[in-house]
Amino acid sequence: MTLIDRVTARFHDIVGESPRGIWSAPGRVNIIGEHTDYNGGFALPMAIDRHTVVAVSRREDGLVRVGSTLSGDVVTTELARCVPGSVSGWAAYPLGVLWALGGSRGHFPGLDIVIDTDVPIGAGLSSSAAIECAVAVAANDLWELDLDRMQLAYAGQRAENDMVGAPTGMMDQIASLFGEEESAVLIDCQIPEAQAVPFALASEGLAVLVMNSTVHHSHATGGYKDRRAACERAAVAMGVEFLRDLAVDDLPRLRETVDDVTFRRARHVVTENARVRAVAELLETDGPHAIGDFLVASHLSMRDDFEISIPQIDLAVRVARENGALGARLTGGGFGGAAIALVPRDALPTIEHEVRAAYAEAQFDAPDLFVVTPSRGAGRID
Ligand code: GLA
Repeated sequence: MTLIDRVTARFHDIVGESPRGIWSAPGRVNIIGEHTDYNGGFALPMAIDRHTVVAVSRREDGLVRVGSTLSGDVVTTELARCVPGSVSGWAAYPLGVLWALGGSRGHFPGLDIVIDTDVPIGAGLSSSAAIECAVAVAANDLWELDLDRMQLAYAGQRAENDMVGAPTGMMDQIASLFGEEESAVLIDCQIPEAQAVPFALASEGLAVLVMNSTVHHSHATGGYKDRRAACERAAVAMGVEFLRDLAVDDLPRLRETVDDVTFRRARHVVTENARVRAVAELLETDGPHAIGDFLVASHLSMRDDFEISIPQIDLAVRVARENGALGARLTGGGFGGAAIALVPRDALPTIEHEVRAAYAEAQFDAPDLFVVTPSRGAGRID
């Protein structure tokens, strides 16, 4: 059964009729540029061929009802009362987007929304942004808002920051909305602006392998907030608005200005911005075979300076590299989630086998391994 069939069947169960339409939004992997987005910096993610789909219809009584194929819960609320603090749990993502689009101001019709997904949840592949962006494109159509993609990305971020309480940047939503086939999305988060960069893998004999550690994370708690606060401290101490405004040449002065931990956090961001720009340029000139070393340097910077990796991810990265990956790194916010490896297609079976074996030997839970391809961003599919 396809996602479309499944979500349509569930919509029938809950609403008793067919949906007005079906919209879809992809998850993402970040190729490089981690924890740079909220520092006004650069990121280079790609949308992947794993999607969240939403079946949606208008309703004329001002209510919003959201259900999903993942749980039996159906949440019903007045659109006018859909504001931060009023919703918790998974429904905060779709309802947060409706709030961010102005839904609580009272002049929009209600909606029935049913969600299904094949993006693994909590794996660092932006399952939350995929829900937000699918709902955002659906509401944009059904409420005839005529917003552009960057405005929809912003609504997704507001939902996440204000309704869910996770202080994330905009990278995930921009990737999910601006993705293109055979391309990565170069984001300048300060403007913000998104631009496609060539990332054709199949014709180069390459693949991106996701190595999901299955260790779950949440960015509404703990480490993510701490890292963001450290970056903001460093920017204030250096008299700049964002760490984006510092260059690698500024690092000696930074070292004299802040404590060691704050310095290492900021050094990750400053060097990561430089790596993103270098990789984007290399993809234009030399193609994906040329970028492996930058992925490795990015991982070491996250592991040692930003300290957001975990043993399961470090192991996957190391074993992938030892068995022929051109590069590998943690992807996403960290503290769990997944790594990616850029892999010659003929090395895939060996790498998958060796990563599984290494996890078994270390007595880690089995990893979830799968190949992803760069895909088109969110839109109506039926
Ligand atoms: C999460 C956040 C993004 C970004 C990454 C780290 O995915 O949602 O905004 O900060 O972590 O690069």
